Amino acid sequence: LDILSVTSECVPLIKTGGLADVAGALPKALGTLGHRMRTLLPAYPGLVAKLTDTRVVWSDPDLFGGPAQVIFGTVASEASGGEGTGATEILLLQAPHLFDRAGGPYLDLDGVDFADNPERFAALSWVGAQIAMHGTSDGWRPRLVHCHDWQAALVPSYLKFAGHGHIPTILTIHNMAFQGLAPADRTEALRLPWHEFHADSFEYFGQISALKAGLKHAWKLTTVSPTYAGELMRPEFGMGMDGIIRDRSTDMVGILNGIDLDLWNPQTCDTPYGLRTLKKKANARRALAARFGIHAHDAPLAIVVSRLSHQKGLDLLAECLPEFIEQGGAVAVLGTGDKALEQAFRDLGNRYPGRVGVEIDYDEELSHLMFAGGDAVLIPSRFEPCGLTQLYGLRFGTLPLVAATGGLADTVIDANPAALAMGVATGFTFHPTEPIALSFALERLLMLFAQPDLWTQMQRNAMKQPVGWDTSAAAYIALYESLTSEAAP
Ligand code: ADP
Ligand code: GLC
Repeated sequence: LDILSVTSECVPLIKTGGLADVAGALPKALGTLGHRMRTLLPAYPGLVAKLTDTRVVWSDPDLFGGPAQVIFGTVASEASGGEGTGATEILLLQAPHLFDRAGGPYLDLDGVDFADNPERFAALSWVGAQIAMHGTSDGWRPRLVHCHDWQAALVPSYLKFAGHGHIPTILTIHNMAFQGLAPADRTEALRLPWHEFHADSFEYFGQISALKAGLKHAWKLTTVSPTYAGELMRPEFGMGMDGIIRDRSTDMVGILNGIDLDLWNPQTCDTPYGLRTLKKKANARRALAARFGIHAHDAPLAIVVSRLSHQKGLDLLAECLPEFIEQGGAVAVLGTGDKALEQAFRDLGNRYPGRVGVEIDYDEELSHLMFAGGDAVLIPSRFEPCGLTQLYGLRFGTLPLVAATGGLADTVIDANPAALAMGVATGFTFHPTEPIALSFALERLLMLFAQPDLWTQMQRNAMKQPVGWDTSAAAYIALYESLTSEAAP
């Protein structure tokens, strides 16, 4: 099958979070199963230069206020070893007036949202719809469009409004918290028809919501774990959209994310180890401790690799850390985001030198060292659609300690007495996401770390978990095939 994926970020070109990992890994996994996915994303500064075999495959003199073209090219998988298929096919939307500017994909250099984000990503969705309807000039035409998050969520609406609602579309919700809101008076600017400005379409409490448009108009909805799919139907998690999700419950499915086993591989990291050479993990651990100036010979060295945001619950961790440290734990933190949280972790670093190491940064390479060298990874999220770092933790035998929500609940088996007795535990879960429950989980972690046989057993269980794409890629393919056969004349 030929599938068009529309996304605002994609590894290895541009990443701010897990969406990029997923958008990058899925086409690779589909490729090994004989399907072709081309990925459309904005040409942020410097991206075109990362492609090879480039050619222009679409153009428009006026895309939302300026000229635009789509550049096809391939990007080599960064993987070393493993079963990667090599090149991923990319479509970069080059529209300098929208995407060639300093800052990140969504924020300017001061960390403020670009004022024209609604137009920028409406333009991305518009082009996705054009390619779905007319194909690219090199004769490629997708049978289905797979849209990711609000940035691509207008594709199904544009198709529908243009009389092409027969082209199958899937919207994957990676995070319901981001809804793509814009004031009503931008309706025309976003090339949306006024007569559709109502609650049964893209209107949301008097505004435009790109996400809502997708939730209404996509053929099928998916999200990135079965538990989050259920949670989204409840007001605590649905962020105002739970009613729509309930209405569309028969069109909604949770498909767990996998991780790229080539990119996240303890055997190919700088200090390699594996299931049979688990003792060598100590080398990575030493390197990690040295990097953060941490002394933790007999204590568990936990890691945090995360956006520092309310979602991730790290304010609760900051509250519980002093107790954990005083009971013998140590922590290395890598993250950026909320300024108050950055400061809270810096303060903890100053208060516990040699026990708490903090890097306020975004550093992909360092994150690999942390997963390789850590004993445990801490993820106390308030909500977590899937979460990838617990999967990296499993793969590296770095036991995840997680809030029992969303994909975290679906992927970690708690070290309760029954699971320990059966020898199946892979980490620690706690509920509710509150300091007292988190503290108790941290205490259990300390207790188990003091029992090396049990700990090693858990590491082995963790490393044996199937966290790659096999099952989920097959689930996406089954969904694609059911929709394209439904669409066939
Ligand atoms: P989310 O997408 O909500 O941030 P995920 O767990 O799905 O959460 O994905 C986060 C991704 O971003 C992971 O690949 C994680 O390793 C990475 N990441 C987050 N913060 C940092 C950081 N400061 N440095 C390096 N990688 C980071
Ligand atoms: C979002 C979610 C995260 C998920 C990722 C990839 O960023 O916050 O839980 O893993 O998307 O699907």
